[in-house]
Amino acid sequence: MDRFTRATDIDGKQFATGLLERVKADVEAVKAETGVVPGLAVVLVGEDPASALYVASKHKQTMAAGMKSFEHRLPAETTQAELLVLVNRLNVDPEIHGILVQLPLPAHLDPNAVIQAINPDKDVDGFHVSNAGRLATGNPALVPCTPLGCMMLLKDTLGENLAGMHAVIVGKSNIVGKPMAQMLMNAHCTVTVVHSQTKNTAEFCRAADILVVAAGRAGLVRGDWIKPGAVVIDVGINRIQVDGKSRIVGDVVYGEAGHARAITPVPGGVGPMTIACLLSNTLTAFRRHHILAIAA
Ligand code: GUN
Repeated sequence: MDRFTRATDIDGKQFATGLLERVKADVEAVKAETGVVPGLAVVLVGEDPASALYVASKHKQTMAAGMKSFEHRLPAETTQAELLVLVNRLNVDPEIHGILVQLPLPAHLDPNAVIQAINPDKDVDGFHVSNAGRLATGNPALVPCTPLGCMMLLKDTLGENLAGMHAVIVGKSNIVGKPMAQMLMNAHCTVTVVHSQTKNTAEFCRAADILVVAAGRAGLVRGDWIKPGAVVIDVGINRIQVDGKSRIVGDVVYGEAGHARAITPVPGGVGPMTIACLLSNTLTAFRRHHILAIAA
């Protein structure tokens, strides 16, 4: 690649807007077909301001997509048993097709026990072991929203066929790194996962055609970690102080990535995709439910 070429910005905001429009049109179509309105329940425990903002945004966008939005705000002192009673009620509520319990939960609650209590067919986060297993065995049903959004942006940039490409993922979380690896393997990529204990991370990254970074460390990936012409997906959202001002940056030093073929900026890359994918997953859960109900 010659030095006058500049990496293309992958515009997640614009893609998410288009996805939300498609979801809205599909919601209209399934409403007309079944007479039922897709419904999403979001549960927030406690007063964490960032979580409260997320939940308010989910509510607004759920309504904008023509779905029913059910918000449950519980006090920080809610017990595990009380939360599980609510989850069980949502699990059997026919108006609800998707359930999301906002994380993190207050420290006295066990997030894993709560996630595993969600009906896997309503698990729009894709965090339940049943959905993780379906994805790992190449038969995905509901998949985690952030890696789903990353896959959509990758295919929009590189085309549908990713077979044979070397994808390197930085980070091995259950929410991003692991499901991202499964999705890329399902797309027939050669996949390497590196993490905080990896000895030669930079060397692995330099071999990547597709580099997905979800480490949660501002500026971890420098320009010389990126192969010329690689596609870089920066999942990081880090708040840092620059000259006394607060800024949001990714895990990649964006200013050093000009030799990439394309990169997601932060903000405006992966971030806007997550809620759009949540609503897309709610529609997927609705469709699966109705097809299963028809087949039963
Ligand atoms: N908190 C921040 N992001 C997420 C998410 O994608 N799902 C849930 N359940 N909680 C979150």
